[in-house]
Amino acid sequence: MRNDVHAAFREVGKRFGAVEVLRDVTFEIARGEVHALIGENGAGKSTLMKMLAGYHEPTTGHVEVDGQPVTLRSSRDAEALGVVLIHQEFNLAEDLTVAQNVFLGHEPGRGLVDDAEMVRRTREALALVDVRLDPRTRVRDLSVPQKQLVEIAKALSRRARLLVMDEPTASLTLSETRTLLDLIRRLRGEGVTVLYVSHKLEEVKAVADRVTVLRDGRLVTTRAAQDLSPHEMANLMVGRELTDMFPGKAEPGSEVALSVRDLDVPGFAGGVNFDVRRGEVLGFAGLVGAGRTEAFEGLLGLRRRSVGRVERDGRPVRIRSAGDAARHGVVYLSEDRKGKGLLVDMPLRPNLTLMTLERYARPLLDPRAEQRALERAAKEYGVRTGRLDVPASALSGGNQQKLVLGRILEVDPRVVILDEPTRGVDVGAKRDIYHLVHRLAAGGRAVVVISSEMPELLGLCHRILVMREGRVVGELSGDGLTEQDVIRLATGLTREEGASHVHTHH
Ligand SMILES: Nc1ncnc2c1ncn2[C@@H]1O[C@H](COP(=O)(O)OP(=O)(O)OP(=O)(O)O)[C@@H](O)[C@H]1O
Ligand SMILES: [Mg+2]
Repeated sequence: MRNDVHAAFREVGKRFGAVEVLRDVTFEIARGEVHALIGENGAGKSTLMKMLAGYHEPTTGHVEVDGQPVTLRSSRDAEALGVVLIHQEFNLAEDLTVAQNVFLGHEPGRGLVDDAEMVRRTREALALVDVRLDPRTRVRDLSVPQKQLVEIAKALSRRARLLVMDEPTASLTLSETRTLLDLIRRLRGEGVTVLYVSHKLEEVKAVADRVTVLRDGRLVTTRAAQDLSPHEMANLMVGRELTDMFPGKAEPGSEVALSVRDLDVPGFAGGVNFDVRRGEVLGFAGLVGAGRTEAFEGLLGLRRRSVGRVERDGRPVRIRSAGDAARHGVVYLSEDRKGKGLLVDMPLRPNLTLMTLERYARPLLDPRAEQRALERAAKEYGVRTGRLDVPASALSGGNQQKLVLGRILEVDPRVVILDEPTRGVDVGAKRDIYHLVHRLAAGGRAVVVISSEMPELLGLCHRILVMREGRVVGELSGDGLTEQDVIRLATGLTREEGASHVHTHH
């Protein structure tokens, strides 16, 4: 039995300064299993994974690999034992190419780097995760899901025997997720062990052999995945029965809050027209690459675009920057919180109040008012952290998301555009965000939700526009809001007869 244990945590504890993050965690990862680690935002999952992969050392207890207690002082130490971590927040060098990133610190042919060889081997690694991408592309030019897949390809090219994956599917859509889960199963078939964090419990159920649950830095239980339903997993994570994920949909108003005509974002989206009414939650569905994010980045002036007409509450407005948009009551939550949302090296306070500095700067910057706003927002949006005077980088992934959400709502917007609002957010906090969206709409705001999570779109939205290859290809509402219809439109599969509730846009 002992031989079957690939790695183990033995009474592991971790402190950051005065903050105790993990306490007395003991569990084993069997060789060749897919072991899922679940828990709320801030429960300590990433911290635990980083200890196994050499990024942090335990404060108490120890980590074992292949039956031996190990001291891992760097990721190199861990890699030497075949343990490779795929980070939750990307760890790629934006200015380097994909190939350079894959081989960073491991360039083939010591001394002289053979570019052709690097490109060839990168192409092989990318083929493992089913991405077709020129290895010479700069990482900064990749989409978020492409970056995620490059991270995975990079880890695989290092011949990992124990692959540690921190929310690998957080930014992937359904089909990419399926590809990745198939890949995980294939790797398991080849004897690779996978330790895996995800907030997508359906996915955990589908791929994991065993599940370990953490709550507030302590171990709750380790169980066979087949003995737990996703709902039971959620309850174990939060320590109470979770009901009522989606509040009912309130009746939308009749006034159009935001109207957009003839939005073109060259290379990404064209001819985009839509209206969203007060009190309405309008969804945008589509596969990765359908142009949803780019269309809204264009609308906000974050990308080159042309637009026929934009009206806020019936009045034409010009939006050429996020600042313009905020002045007109339109805010946008970016899907890419690290690249475009958060100032990771800055404290939480400026991160929250960045958009509303004027309010706190009258007549002089008032740090106390700012601090009160931070305390209120932390409470309102459930930002969980030991202390509030830390840089944003010290927040767990899901808590960073809540902070950026708090920031855009600080300006008291009329139109709220949320791009993947629950990415990386735990199931309890997801429920909180859904209820927040409901409150925003019920309070007369217009809400646009761009999401790759089908249950989220179906549960929240009054109406869904589906985009494919840069165009809005259909609109679904009322009884027509079904997963099959969204997928059919998003993938462009032939339309079934009798689907009369589907209106095709021209
Ligand atoms: N370098 C650090 N300094 C101080 N506190 C930290 C540091 N890294 C993590 N923490 C704290 O440790 C706790 C656990 O964080 P961790 O990132 O492990 O959570 P998580 O379970 O991965 O959450 P999520 O699901 O949101 O990713 C959090 O309260 C976080 O703020
Ligand atoms: Mg984490």
